[in-house]
Parts: sequence; structure tokens; C-alpha cells
Amino acid sequence: MADADELWEYWRKRSDSYEERYVDPSTVLEREKRVRLATALELAQLDGADTVGDLGVGSGRLFAHLPDNVSQIIGVDFSAPMIQGARENISNVAYVQGTAESLPLRTGSLDVLFCLGVVGHMNSDAVPAAIDEMARVLRPGGSLILSFANARSPFRRLRRVCIAARSGTHYTTYRPEYIEEILRQAGCHIRSRRYLTYSTGLLDTQANLWLAAVLDNHLVTNDLLGPLAMTWVVQASVREGSVAFD
Ligand SMILES: C[S@@+](CC[C@H](N)C(=O)[O-])C[C@H]1O[C@@H](n2cnc3c(N)ncnc32)[C@H](O)[C@@H]1O
Repeated sequence: MADADELWEYWRKRSDSYEERYVDPSTVLEREKRVRLATALELAQLDGADTVGDLGVGSGRLFAHLPDNVSQIIGVDFSAPMIQGARENISNVAYVQGTAESLPLRTGSLDVLFCLGVVGHMNSDAVPAAIDEMARVLRPGGSLILSFANARSPFRRLRRVCIAARSGTHYTTYRPEYIEEILRQAGCHIRSRRYLTYSTGLLDTQANLWLAAVLDNHLVTNDLLGPLAMTWVVQASVREGSVAFD
């Protein structure tokens, strides 16, 4: 796996073009990001009074979809160029530069924390510490909305091979039970899960788009077939009494 400098450089290079990867719904890959975002927002059930964090802000796209009345929004990312790009898109957010493994936020300071499309880009060794940090910064009863790539999905395995061959991008997948165990050790338990994407998504044909939409609609909460999906989005709550306050 890449070292921290390589990962940082990877995101510096991608910062100029990241938003473009979101704007064409006629591609399966971009449609997936939109569906993931909509699913995450649905799971979060935001309340007007919430203090909301987003770890790994990308282009800041999430912020455009938050209700106007959330009380505070904080975006954390380790890449200054990504923060810069996000700030140009959405300015009314408190952006903080920092890593997932050592979040620059106070213990128990957030009601909801989103972490979408991030753990797959981290060194897998760092993920347990990052999830501990996510639990720490949430208040007891607060919600972590986390997405990850499902290592058990046959579609995911196929896509990994094709994407690695095409672009050399490294992306780490996880067994859901492993993520579940790390969450448990961090004092969180999964309340809801959603299963997204049942195709390799590498051909932008109308048929592929249609199939992706139909399967996503029908299997998103199906605990029997859903676990075959490439992407999981989970809502985990921090157990009362599991976090020691500063
Ligand atoms: C694929 S983008 C996802 C962006 C956004 N959450 C979305 O759903 O589109 C991953 C983001 O996570 C950031 N990131 C990756 N590893 C990180 C880490 N260890 N700590 C903080 N940010 C990280 C990258 O700079 C990038 O902005």
C-alpha cells in the first residue's frame, strides 16, 4: 500500500478534477456517487439543530445537500488542495485540515459525521484508529454514516481488476464483518445498512444504467441478496457511555 506522502500526492493531483467526476449522471460510476450521497443523507435523518461533520470532503458536494438550518458544518480533509477546491464550491463551512487517524475535533462535539468514499483510499492499517477517532468526536447517541467497498462482492472483485488494469488506482476493499467488528470495538453499533451497486459499472450503456437503477432500487435494503452489492453505507450509533469526555 502507498505511504502517507504518496496518498497525499495522489489527492493533490486529483483535486483539480474531482468535481468533474460528479457531474455526468449518464455514467454509471458518477450515478453511483449520487446514489451514495442520497442514501447517506437519508440514513442521517438530519435535524435542524445538528452539528454535522464530513471527513474527506472531496469537492464539498455533500454540503450543498444539507438542510439550511443545520447548526454547524465542519469539513475535515488531509489535503489542502482538496479543501481549497471544496471552499471554492461551498464557502459557508468551517474547513479544518487534518487526518482521519487524528481528527482535529473535540471529543463528543458532533451529532452526525459523514465519511463517504474515504476508508478505501486509506492504508487499511490506519482504518481501526480512524474509526476510533470518528467515534470519539461524536456525542453519545450520535451517528456515523460510513461507506466502504465490500470485499465480498463479486462485482467489486471484477471492478477492482478492471480499474487497476485501466488506471493503476489502488482502492482497498473490506469484509463487512471486519468493519462491523472495528465499529463495535470503537463503541458503535450498526443500526441500518444500505447495499448499493450490482454491476462492474465499466460500460456506460443505457442497459447498464437501467439495470443499476433497478437493482439499486430493489435490493438496497435486501439482507439476503443485498450483501453482494459493491458498496455498503451504514449508519452506526455511538453507545452511551462508550466515549470518555475530555
Ligand atoms: C474519494 S474522495 C471522497 C470525497 C467525498 N466524501 C465524496 O463522497 O465524494 C476521498 C477524500 O478523502 C480525503 N482523504 C483520504 N484519506 C484521508 C485521510 N487519511 N484523512 C483525511 N482525509 C483523507 C481525500 O483528500 C479526498 O478528499
